[in-house]
Amino acid sequence: MKLNRSLALVLAGLGLAAGVHAQTVLKIGYATSKESHYGVGSTVFCDEIEKGTQGRYKCQHFPNSALGGEREQIEAVQLGTQDLVNTSTGPLGNFVPEVKIVDIPFLFRDYDHARKVMDGPIGEELRRKMAEKGLINLAWTENGFRHMTNSRRAIVKAEDAAGLKMRTMENKVHMDGYKTFGILPTPMPFPELFTALQQGTVDGQENPIPVILAAKFSQVQKHLSLTGHVYSPAALILSPAVWNKLSDADKQVFLAAGKKAAEAQRRKVNEDEANGIAQLKREGMQVVEKVDGDSFRKAIAPAYQAYAREFGADRIAAIQAVK
Ligand code: PAF
Repeated sequence: MKLNRSLALVLAGLGLAAGVHAQTVLKIGYATSKESHYGVGSTVFCDEIEKGTQGRYKCQHFPNSALGGEREQIEAVQLGTQDLVNTSTGPLGNFVPEVKIVDIPFLFRDYDHARKVMDGPIGEELRRKMAEKGLINLAWTENGFRHMTNSRRAIVKAEDAAGLKMRTMENKVHMDGYKTFGILPTPMPFPELFTALQQGTVDGQENPIPVILAAKFSQVQKHLSLTGHVYSPAALILSPAVWNKLSDADKQVFLAAGKKAAEAQRRKVNEDEANGIAQLKREGMQVVEKVDGDSFRKAIAPAYQAYAREFGADRIAAIQAVK
C-alpha cells in the first residue's frame, strides 16, 4: 500500500516534469449525424482545440439529438451541465429575444447575403447579446435555407401549402409567417419528427437539404419543394462554465477553432445543396425545383407589418441592405 502510494507520487512527478497536463473532455451535442453538416463542423472544432491546446481539451460527441432537443441542449449549456451545442437559432430566441430577427422568412436573399450578415456587425451584436445571457457563441455555423416536404401534394405556390399540417420549430417568428401561407403549424421538438411523419400525425415539415438527407425523410415524405422560405442560421455555443476557466491563449484557440468549424460546416451545406437534390430524387422524392416564390412573398406581407412592430422596420431594412 505504502509502496503504491510512493509509486503514484513518483509517476505524478514525472508526468509534471514531462509537461503532461490533465485532460478535459467536453461534451458536444447536435441534432443530426456525425457525417452531417453539424457533425462535420463539430469535428473540425474538436480536432482544432485538441491540436491547439496540445491535448488538454478534447470532445466527446453526442450526435443525433442524444442529449435531447435543441431547446433542452441550449438550456443545459446555459446551466453548465453540457459544455457545447451546435444548434440552429430556431429555439434560441426563447433565451435571447434579439436573435429572433434572423429567423424572419424571406429576410435573406441567398447564402452570400446571409453569411455576410451573420459574420458582420449585426451578427457580432447578436453574439454580445448571447454572452449577456450566459451563452458563448464561438461562431455562427449554419443549418441552411429551409424547404418544405410533405406526403400529400406538390407545392408550387403558396396556395398549395394551405391546409397542410406542418411540423415547425418551436419558433413564433416562423409560425406567424407560415400561417400566412395557410399552413397549420405544429411546433414539435426535432427528435419526435420522424415518427410523427411516419404515423401521419403531421403531413409535412420544413428543413434544409442537409437535414432532409441526414434524417432520411425521403423514407416518409413523397414531395419536396425548394421553397427556400427562410434561412436557418446556427451557432456553436460554449458554456460560460468552461469559457470562464480558459486562459486568454486558450480562448483564442477556441475562437479560431470556431471559425474553422463554421467554414467547414458551410462547405458541407454547399456540397449537400449541390448533390443532395439528385440523391433525394434517386431515393424516390418528387421535387418541385421551380417554386413560385412571389406567391409566398405576397402572402407573407401582413406578417412583415407585425415583424416591423416587433423588431423595428429600420433593423429589418439594415439586414436587407447588406450587400
Ligand atoms: O428542424 C429543426 O428543428 C432544426 O432544423 C434541426 C433539424 C434540429 C437542425 O438544427
